[in-house]
Amino acid sequence: MHIFTTAAELRAYAEANRRAGRRLGLVPTMGALHAGHLQLVQAAAAECDEVIASIFVNPTQFNNPDDLRLYPRLPEQDTALLAGAGCAALFMPGVAEIYPQPTVLRFDFGPLERVMEGAHRPGHFNGVATVVSKLFHLARPHRAYFGQKDFQQVAIVRQLIADLSFDLELVVAPTVREADGLAMSSRNRRLSPEARAVAPVLYQVLQAAAQQVRQGVAPTEVQTNAYTELQQSAEFNTEYFEVADAQTLQPLAHYEAGRPVVLCVAAHLDGVRLIDNVVV
Ligand code: PAF
Repeated sequence: MHIFTTAAELRAYAEANRRAGRRLGLVPTMGALHAGHLQLVQAAAAECDEVIASIFVNPTQFNNPDDLRLYPRLPEQDTALLAGAGCAALFMPGVAEIYPQPTVLRFDFGPLERVMEGAHRPGHFNGVATVVSKLFHLARPHRAYFGQKDFQQVAIVRQLIADLSFDLELVVAPTVREADGLAMSSRNRRLSPEARAVAPVLYQVLQAAAQQVRQGVAPTEVQTNAYTELQQSAEFNTEYFEVADAQTLQPLAHYEAGRPVVLCVAAHLDGVRLIDNVVV
């Protein structure tokens, strides 16, 4: 597996492969890899000639300095996992390589980012869109792989690709879960054993809410029930629980026939911010 730390190396690799007619798959990550990331790499390896993964803990998408400082960093372990999963090239740049100067350009995704993660983490999606755009330009992938766990991020990246005419296909893989239902996340490593034991409640609440949506329980009632259930587990500090349209991400006052609904939650547990979602 090639390991590149400079933009020039990645650009040259992508150019050479494109000239040779090889199809490139890109898996952008922030490292501390788990089975969800490896599933993306394996999907890319099955569908593309070469898989490029990136590991970059992107400072511009963190609105909380502690979250950035404490974000797990495991470069040696990650490198071995990627090599074993069929990755051909790993891009692992430093901050100065990606941001030689502060960016001036600002992204505004309108209503799509005024809710949920965008509303609670100001500037987050500007940082995501900035780094994802840079990675798309450098790696020039034919396909780019993202996980459904970051549901709103996927919607933002889809909009980014459409608005800036990136010539690539977005591939979205389902959330990978632990045996007890907890969505895999790099942040799970920071949970204490006690917090880890209650963490699956988040998915249980989502599942109960999904059942209520299927039964036609009104969106506001589903939301209230979910907040109540999460409050019963005193360990959770719920940031939001939304019943939203799965395409526009706007909160629903009532259901519309034929339009999928997404249930999204963000909650703090043991000082760790967890998110999860279910599409109904
Ligand atoms: O989902 C992530 O890990 C990050 O937001 C991404 C897409 C790698 C951009 O930094």
